[in-house]
Amino acid sequence: MNEFTRTIDAGRVMARCDALATLSELSGGLTRVYLSEEQRKANELVLGWMREAGMQAGLDAIGNCAGRYEGDRPGLPCLMLGSHLDTVRDAGRYDGMLGVITAIECVHALDKAGRRLPFALEVIGFADEEGVRFGTTFLGSRAIAGTFKPEALDATDKAGTRLSDAMRGFGLDPARVGDAARRRGAVHAYAELHIEQGPVLEAAGLPVGVVTAINGATRYNFTIEGMAGHAGTVPMALRRDALAAAAECVLAIEACGKGGADLVATVGKLEVMPGATNVIPGRVTFTLDLRSPRDADREKAVAAVVAEIKQVCERRRVKVEAHKLHDEPVAVCAPWMQEAIGAAIASEGVEVRRLPSGAGHDGMAMQAIADIGMLFVRCKSGISHNPAEAISEADAGLATRVLAGFIGNFAPRAAR
Ligand code: HGY
Ligand code: MN
Ligand code: MN
Repeated sequence: MNEFTRTIDAGRVMARCDALATLSELSGGLTRVYLSEEQRKANELVLGWMREAGMQAGLDAIGNCAGRYEGDRPGLPCLMLGSHLDTVRDAGRYDGMLGVITAIECVHALDKAGRRLPFALEVIGFADEEGVRFGTTFLGSRAIAGTFKPEALDATDKAGTRLSDAMRGFGLDPARVGDAARRRGAVHAYAELHIEQGPVLEAAGLPVGVVTAINGATRYNFTIEGMAGHAGTVPMALRRDALAAAAECVLAIEACGKGGADLVATVGKLEVMPGATNVIPGRVTFTLDLRSPRDADREKAVAAVVAEIKQVCERRRVKVEAHKLHDEPVAVCAPWMQEAIGAAIASEGVEVRRLPSGAGHDGMAMQAIADIGMLFVRCKSGISHNPAEAISEADAGLATRVLAGFIGNFAPRAAR
């Protein structure tokens, strides 16, 4: 056991997750999106905790909370830790936040023990992983990885605010996003602690596990244009009902997910226009989220389901526009990082279980500049993206000690 792990305080970790959960646009629930006033308040809290833990901390050019704890000499390459601070709508309080707070807790323990390592530590609270506000994903981690796509600056939220204008309103300069990118060799590796968001660890009776890979994911937005009309006068045979067509597409997407091993396919958003009881829907937009642990299977399934959607719409004499929002291949966690995280789990006397991640994570972007590793924490009934998301304080404490043990024994490989 690394002696500095003794000061790790699981109660403080849980209390900080609770404190962040109060910063929400949703009364009685948790929704905190990128560049919102709630995120501004959350950033202030997190930057304060980073500074209390002995880090230099501030917002980077994209709005990530970035803290740095120097190694035994200034300016060394870092082991980067962290997770995201934005949430989905009506979210749980641990998805993302737990990874940031536990990393800060580890640095706090090192600082209290007066320990400096032969590498720096950086803790990042990524600003936009879920992509709820602008339909983007990984904006914060892509900026750090230097893979930020400038066209994302033109994305708009549902109020029509452009990302670039929202950044200016937040005190950020969209022209300087590139400043967030880390130079080559500056990052030894990226490691993220995250709740499993699935049932495997709980079913195995294990508090933590090592992630082998993050499933690949494709997201689309579809717009179906039919013909709005009077619900009382247009005969059924003459209708070009956009919602009836969308409904058939939703069932085709569900059938596609059910039809492939380890495939999952979801329609998370659907909007009906004009949205009146007595009007035949003229326009419908809906999303597709399709994932698989095998890229070839995902690509095949996406091609098949997009083709089927087009056939449904042609048969129903409605127009359809398909717009790809996101396409990320499987991200493999580096074997040496899996070993190191596994060793830290074993040193806490826990059986080492390896498992894939069905959920996406910032490591998918960070792998562009560094090898990645992930430590999963058991969550109650595997529930996530839901206010019922829950972990135990004991598991939070054990997982933080495992992360600290991983950090204390980390042996940098040649940074890429
Ligand atoms: O969608 C995901 O898998 C993650 O929560 N962003
Ligand atoms: Mn999530
Ligand atoms: Mn997450």
